[in-house]
Amino acid sequence: MSAQLLGLSASDIAARPRAPRFGEAPGCVKVGHYRRDMPVTMARMMENALDWEHLPSLHSSSFSTIELIDSGPWGWRASAEVAGGNGTAERGQVIELLLDTQQHCWVTTILAGVGEGNQIHTQAVTLDAENIQVQVDFYVPDTGLQDEVRKQYGEALSAIYRQLYDEDESMMARRQHEMQAWQDFRRGGADEVEKDLGSVDAVEAALPLIVPFRGGRFKLDWKNDRFTIFSVRCPHMLGPLDDAPVVDGAVTCPWHGYRFDVRTGACNGHPGLSLETPPEVTVTDPGGRVVLRRSSF
Ligand code: FES
Ligand SMILES: [Fe+2]
Repeated sequence: MSAQLLGLSASDIAARPRAPRFGEAPGCVKVGHYRRDMPVTMARMMENALDWEHLPSLHSSSFSTIELIDSGPWGWRASAEVAGGNGTAERGQVIELLLDTQQHCWVTTILAGVGEGNQIHTQAVTLDAENIQVQVDFYVPDTGLQDEVRKQYGEALSAIYRQLYDEDESMMARRQHEMQAWQDFRRGGADEVEKDLGSVDAVEAALPLIVPFRGGRFKLDWKNDRFTIFSVRCPHMLGPLDDAPVVDGAVTCPWHGYRFDVRTGACNGHPGLSLETPPEVTVTDPGGRVVLRRSSF
């Protein structure tokens, strides 16, 4: 499906500059500001700014779909639909994000559709090795809005960004944690061959269980008279599958919406991605204990 350009031509979009004009918004007026400290690294923040694909999954209350038009180290352009839309063009947006990775700033512009002409200028500042601050300025087209209306507009945009950054912060912090855990394991974490989880009765009473094993985390459950187990670390960008419900034998990652077959690990639509191979689940006989064993394949 080709992206909806809402009256813009593909060649006009392609001809646009790819460098942000940070702090400059000709024809616009500033209506508000939002500032926030976050316990994430600058690397995670830059990665997040370039990550167009998470909008409808992570920010499902704000966006319902997104289709990429173009992307690169300079940023991205995409056609999106704001949440609550009914598939008509009135709910659509063409969004552009231009990033300056050296200066840690970016400008998001609504090129067409809902909020057309709005610009959001964001500066990220390093506080220390693990903390940053984002400073966000909101601009709207200068149509002679009264001060009170501008103020309301700014407050509404601040409220939306507060929620977006709540969601982004949890994703970035979790990803940082998962990357660190994986590095720690590679540096010499416990390379278990097997793990005794306890008696069958005790394990069954505790299901579903998230079990750490050899640097990964796996969800153990019981279905159709047998144990089931799959990795809860999404292989795309380490998103959490812990609470994702299994529907028709598959889980959907909450970060970008990729879908995985929990039995084979295969990712629908992304043949190069697969869930980590889980350990084998065995029940000792005699003994009746549930034991995870490093998979032999
Ligand atoms: S982290 Fe992107 S789909 Fe899971
Ligand atoms: Fe986001």
